[in-house]
Amino acid sequence: MIWTLKKRMYRVQHGVMKVVADVFPFPVPALLTGPGSVKKLAENIRIRGLKHVLVVTDKVLMNLKLPDGFLASLEENGVDYTVFDDVEPNPTIENVEAGRRLYKENKCDGIIGFGGGSPIDCAKIIGARISNPYLSVRRMKGLFRVFIPIPPFFAVPTTAGTGSETTIAAVITDADTHKKFAINDFKLIPKIAVLDPELMVGLPPHITATTGMDALTHAVEAYIGVNGNKFTDENAEKATALIFENLEEAYQNGSNIEARNNMALASFYAGSAFTRAYVGYVHAIAHTLGGLYGVPHGLANAVILPYVLEFCREDAESKLASLALAGGLGANGESDEELSYAFIEKIKTMNKNMDIPTYIKELEEADIPLIAKRALDEAHPDYPVPTIMTRDECEDLVRQLLP
Ligand SMILES: NC(=O)c1ccc[n+]([C@@H]2O[C@H](COP(=O)([O-])OP(=O)(O)OC[C@H]3O[C@@H](n4cnc5c(N)ncnc54)[C@H](O)[C@@H]3O)[C@@H](O)[C@H]2O)c1
Ligand SMILES: [Fe+2]
Repeated sequence: MIWTLKKRMYRVQHGVMKVVADVFPFPVPALLTGPGSVKKLAENIRIRGLKHVLVVTDKVLMNLKLPDGFLASLEENGVDYTVFDDVEPNPTIENVEAGRRLYKENKCDGIIGFGGGSPIDCAKIIGARISNPYLSVRRMKGLFRVFIPIPPFFAVPTTAGTGSETTIAAVITDADTHKKFAINDFKLIPKIAVLDPELMVGLPPHITATTGMDALTHAVEAYIGVNGNKFTDENAEKATALIFENLEEAYQNGSNIEARNNMALASFYAGSAFTRAYVGYVHAIAHTLGGLYGVPHGLANAVILPYVLEFCREDAESKLASLALAGGLGANGESDEELSYAFIEKIKTMNKNMDIPTYIKELEEADIPLIAKRALDEAHPDYPVPTIMTRDECEDLVRQLLP
């Protein structure tokens, strides 16, 4: 009885969020796209009158010299910069505070997130802390808690996965509690997003695969959830088709610029879908595993996605069937039921072809009750999932991820 009532209340909240997503115009970043497009960003920054920017990235990318071309173009345009490259994968509140100190010491006036979702998210929250010094990172958790707009912010993704370059979200880890949480606000959407496939050719196959599956998870969770609309459905369909056509090619042949370009677009489309229609249980469980064990976000999503789809298949059947068709599956008049199974099978096959396991190697049986609790605390009531899960069902699902 209480559970039925709770589920009704969750659905009421989903209804309210759907109205917000349908009615409020989400800001969209201006786009610079195509091979070499990162070179145009510095000129845009100069034209905006910025004098000294903070470039937020990580050590791996600095060692690969990936930001070098962009840094040189800043110099050519007379824009000073300071590099903050201490961002860890699954960035922490400490990373944000260190970046914020550097921004202030150097009197910066703009921020560039250059890297995967980790540097971009860290850069977003540095910006939020700079403009809102009286709000701690923890206080900004949730929806619309960033009061004052952040300094001019630009995103240069080097993975094709998170879609952070177009989303209202920034995900951060509290190292004290090992919890990951999201800060969601329109003010975190960058002014410009650069989709330059040349920055992605050196992405190792395993990271290509897992980040690509993160993008697919965004498309799928946005599409099968109950808060989608025409815009989010179209973007999720475009993303799914591009990922089905290009991800395995980018995995096998990283220097295929066309495949990289299509994956960059897919990640952006999937981000555009989920930032309005939200995600679901795959993300809730993945965030929990990321916080607890440091499992990379894309890897966790890739592993969990088929299990969650099997759990909600019946309720999501017709949506899974349309997404299967959008992705080019089923040419023989299959039923929705058959198409929905074919869709789940396709994901399992892609995972297998890209050496993604069917389990989480760090997962320990004793942690399952805590994981289920944290995941459902995150998902309820915010995530507009097709089937609402009980704690027992969540524990059973997580148990399937044991090595
Ligand atoms: N803000 C959002 O909307 C959103 C959405 C989904 C996920 N996330 C968050 O994003 C983070 C994950 O981001 P990610 O999956 O992009 O991974 P990441 O940024 O953590 O990068 C993973 C690894 O790949 C390396 N790398 C990145 N680009 C490279 C390149 N071109 N060549 C070689 N190596 C490269 C990085 O140095 C790092 O070691 C998580 O914290 C996740 O929760 C945010
Ligand atoms: Fe994600």
